[in-house]
Amino acid sequence: MADLSDIQTVEHDVVVIGAGGAGLRAAIECGQQGLSTGLVCKSLLGKAHTVMAEGGCAAALGNVAPQDNWKVHFRDTMRGGKFLNNWRMAELHATNAPDRVRELEEWGAVFDRTSTGLISQRNFGGHRYPRLAHVGDRTGLEMIRTLQDRTVHTKNVAVHMECTALELLLDDGAVAGVLAYWRETGRLLLLKAKAVIMATGGGGRAWRFTSNSWEYTGDGFALAYGAGAELIDMEFTQFHPTGMVWPPSVRGILVTEGVRGDGGVLKNSAGERFMFSYIPEKFAAETADTVEEADAWLVDSTKHRRPPELLTRDVVARAITREVVEGRGSPHGGVFLDIASRRDAEFIKRKLPSMYHQFKELAGVDITSEPMEVGPTLHYCMGGIRVHPDTQMTTVPGLFACGECSGGMHGANRLGGNSLSDLLVFGHLSGIGAADFVRRRANTPVTDMAQIEAAVRRATDPLNRAEGINPYVVTEHLQRVMDRYVNIVRQQDELETALVELEALKVEVANVKAPGASQYNPGWHEAIALGSLMITAEAVTRAALVREESRGGHTRTDFPGEREEWQKVNVIVTRGAGGAMEVRKELRPAPPPELAKIALATLEELEGSGAVAAPGQGA
Ligand code: FUM
Repeated sequence: MADLSDIQTVEHDVVVIGAGGAGLRAAIECGQQGLSTGLVCKSLLGKAHTVMAEGGCAAALGNVAPQDNWKVHFRDTMRGGKFLNNWRMAELHATNAPDRVRELEEWGAVFDRTSTGLISQRNFGGHRYPRLAHVGDRTGLEMIRTLQDRTVHTKNVAVHMECTALELLLDDGAVAGVLAYWRETGRLLLLKAKAVIMATGGGGRAWRFTSNSWEYTGDGFALAYGAGAELIDMEFTQFHPTGMVWPPSVRGILVTEGVRGDGGVLKNSAGERFMFSYIPEKFAAETADTVEEADAWLVDSTKHRRPPELLTRDVVARAITREVVEGRGSPHGGVFLDIASRRDAEFIKRKLPSMYHQFKELAGVDITSEPMEVGPTLHYCMGGIRVHPDTQMTTVPGLFACGECSGGMHGANRLGGNSLSDLLVFGHLSGIGAADFVRRRANTPVTDMAQIEAAVRRATDPLNRAEGINPYVVTEHLQRVMDRYVNIVRQQDELETALVELEALKVEVANVKAPGASQYNPGWHEAIALGSLMITAEAVTRAALVREESRGGHTRTDFPGEREEWQKVNVIVTRGAGGAMEVRKELRPAPPPELAKIALATLEELEGSGAVAAPGQGA
């Protein structure tokens, strides 16, 4: 049993929680800056969810389309996010991404190449030009491999694997460290630190059908929220349009947008390319409205308008849902994604090797000769921990956040490929931010034994109580609630029902029992994860109830369409003084005029106007 007298203690300048792309990049930066850095991860190093990122990493390198530049990338990102993105974060992202990708290449990442030997870039939804640096459809895996290699060769970084953070420790309101436990032994670990960087990813496991791995239980949201940090725009959850739908055991697994980027098309049960019927007026000027033009795009994507299958994910996911609801779906409740009739088998196996194997092994479908069945799957949390755009510091001094667990960058909807560049850009910047903070911090923080004791009691209650509910049963119940009431299409009465259900679930969570001891006990891990899943679910639901409009990933049947006044508002979630969750609307500052001008400019005005491609990296 986890024993308070047996706490192992380590001291670092900075502790990074999470070893996906963002955490690794942050840890590298801290280590390079000479800070003693502890990197905590729930699984083995190299097994983070980033490895599941498939299609590519968006950066305006201009290798395939020389007219691309950071301004067009910024404009695409703001339009994709329905103008709710943090303007400065979107600017930093678009301007920094090319350097971060080239840096990764210098560190050994083996990207696919153009015929002239440059990093190749593929098309993706919402991006005007082929912009995604990629490695077939295994980009995340290559990025993690490279970052992991760099991390273990960076001085000052110690990795604490199979270790779960339980609570952030505070000294006079500022970060003092982290209490964690070793998943294998249950032994407690106290990490004292002057700064903590949260890089824990999202919380998609609160839903049943998700592309997210088991680690995505919203730990970062919950830890930061518990420490007093603000969460921003949690209502925006992204349903990726194409997850597997059959067989049931694999439902939700990602089918990369790279399939559509490389020419795949969506069809309904009547064989129609239905996306032509769903082109929003706002995107009409940039979207092909005939099959002929969409097919011409396949031959030269820089000259023609994008096919409607590459509209932003929110639009495509809603269109698929409607096709299914109106009876034009595939046999197992999705639609058809066809690349077999568009590309030859050699091309498909070379550019989409994981998709080929995934469907062959898991569904018995040969995608070089048959269509895939696909449907929406919970993929990404746009909302997250509120950070300062330049330093990545949260509203708690000494606490930083980067990657998916931070909020603001993607607004109401994220463009595909922008998450891999986001985690590189903001992982790097959060490392710099934390290093600055540590250097300026005058005091050495002191951890509070009473806080530690209370945290240990909470964590070990599921082990110690005589009887109670199985934590897996409670998780399943939670996932059913979120799937039923807080899904792709929402409305007030359903969100209110979800809140009633969540209140009932809190009672169940308070009574879960994990049989056995603290060693090798998955039931206990699940009981602990449940606390984070519950905070994620409640924050999303409460924020969704407050935002009375439909924008990006948040669709309300009772408030259809975007409402202008809501573009000026962020929804902020905090922990109230009495411990209850509080939600408020907050007016956004006016956009910086020079950035607003770029976001609203025509493509002709931007093309070739702000290229950041380094010499030799152009066409
Ligand atoms: O479809 C994909 O490959 C996912 C990429 C992303 O979410 O950025």
